[in-house]
Amino acid sequence: MIVMEEMLVIRGGSPLKGDITVHGAKNAVLPLLLAGTLTDEEVEISDCPFISDVEAMTLLMRSLGVDVSREGRSIRVRGSAKRANADGALSKTMRSSMFMLGALLSTVHEVHMPLPGGCNIGARPLDIHIDGLRAMGARVEAGEDMLDCYADELRGADIVMRYPSVGATENLMMCASLAKGDTRLINCAREPEIVCLAKGLKSMGADISGEGTSVMRIRGVGRLKGASLAPCGDRIVAGTLVAATAVAGGDVRIYGVDPSDISSVTDVFKSEHCRISGDDVCVRVRADGRIHPVNISTAPFPLFPTDMQAQLMGAMCFSDGVSVIDETVFERRFAHARELVKLGADITLDAGRAIVRGSALTGRKLQGAIMHARDLRGGAGLAIAALGAEGESAIFDIGYIDRGYERLEDMFSCLGADISRLPVQGEM
Ligand code: UD1
Repeated sequence: MIVMEEMLVIRGGSPLKGDITVHGAKNAVLPLLLAGTLTDEEVEISDCPFISDVEAMTLLMRSLGVDVSREGRSIRVRGSAKRANADGALSKTMRSSMFMLGALLSTVHEVHMPLPGGCNIGARPLDIHIDGLRAMGARVEAGEDMLDCYADELRGADIVMRYPSVGATENLMMCASLAKGDTRLINCAREPEIVCLAKGLKSMGADISGEGTSVMRIRGVGRLKGASLAPCGDRIVAGTLVAATAVAGGDVRIYGVDPSDISSVTDVFKSEHCRISGDDVCVRVRADGRIHPVNISTAPFPLFPTDMQAQLMGAMCFSDGVSVIDETVFERRFAHARELVKLGADITLDAGRAIVRGSALTGRKLQGAIMHARDLRGGAGLAIAALGAEGESAIFDIGYIDRGYERLEDMFSCLGADISRLPVQGEM
C-alpha cells in the first residue's frame, strides 16, 4: 500500500472564532479498549476518535485474536485476547502497547512483547509497571528488547509507586480488578483518564475506590461483565485550542471537556488580554493576541501537563517577556524548539529548561517557515506558532500529529484559521 505523504500549510494571522467540541481523549480510549478484553461479554466504547493511535491499538488487539469492530465513533470489543504474543512492529510503534501487560496477564496469564516505542521523548522505562506486577505475583523477565511475563494467579498487594506513572497505574488497576484479594496503589497517578478508566471498570463490575486521589483501593472480583463505556473529552486537545486562541486572538467556546481538568492550562494563559471563563458545559476563551510570559514546570496532574509543554512553548514565542519552561516529566522533550527557531523564535535550551524570549519583547516578528513535526504534541506546538506567524508555514511529518488529533486542520479551519492538508509533492 502506498501511503501518500501529507503536510499542513498554514497562513497565520486569522483570529479564531466559534464553537467546537473536543473528541474523546486518546489517553482515555486506549486503556478502555484493553479494559474491554477483561470480560467475555461485549464492551462498547463510544466517541473513539479517528486518530492513528486508536487505529493501531485496534490492529494490535486483532493481532492478539481479540474481536474488535468499529461502527462510526463506537468501537465494540468482544472477548479476551487469544494469544500472548504481540505483533512486534505494532508494539514498537506505540507506547500504549504497554497496556497489554495488565490486560493479558489478567486473562491469558502470559505476555510476550517487544519493549514499546511511541514518541521519541525520553527513555520511558517500564520499571514501575514491572515492580507492581511482580508485587502481585507475576514473573517478569525483561531482556534487551523483549518482555516476557507469566502469572498463573495475580494476588492483591500494597504497591508503593516510586512515581505516579499514568500507564503503570492503569495496568495495575486492570490487574487488581481481577486479582485475588485487595490491592492498594499508593502514590498512584490522579489524571482524569485514570478516573475515566476507574469509571469504566466499575461499570464492568470492578470494585474501585479512591480514583483521582493518590491512594486507590481495588478489591479483586471474580469476573467482569460487558458494559457501555465513554471516554472523557480530550483535555490536551482542549488545551491546544486554548493556546491557539491565545496566540491568534478571537473568541472560542470549547465544549466536551471539564474546565477543572484543564485549569492548570487555562490559569497560565489567563490575563487581561486573554479572558477565560468556564462553566459546566464549556470553556470560553476571548483573546486579543497579546500574551504574557510564564514560569512553569511540567508535572503530574493536577499540575501543568507535559503533553501541553510544546503548545505552551509555541504560544510563548509571541509573549511580551521571557518565559522559563521546565520539563520534569520526560527528558528530551524539546525537539519542537529547533523547529520553532525556524520561524525566528528566540529559544535557548539548557538541559530540561527552555528559555523563550517572546517576539513582543524582542520586536522580531515570527515569519512562516518550513518545519517538521518530531512528535505528536510538538507538532501541535508548531501549528500554534504557525497560526500566529506572518505569512505561510508548512509542517511536514504530520503523521505524528495524526496520532492524537483528529484532522487538526478541520479543527482549526472551522474556527476560521487558514490551514489545509496537502499532499507532499516531490522531494523536500
Ligand atoms: C501517559 C500518556 C502520555 C503522557 C504521560 C505523562 C497515555 C497513553 N500516555 O504516558 O501522553 O505524556 O502519561 O502524563 O496515557 N516512568 C518510569 N518507569 C515506568 C513508567 C514511567 O521511569 O515504569 C517515567 C517515564 O519515563 C516518564 C514518567 O515516568 O519520565 C511519566 O511516565 P508515565 O506517567 O508512565 O507516562 P505514560 O503512561 O507512558
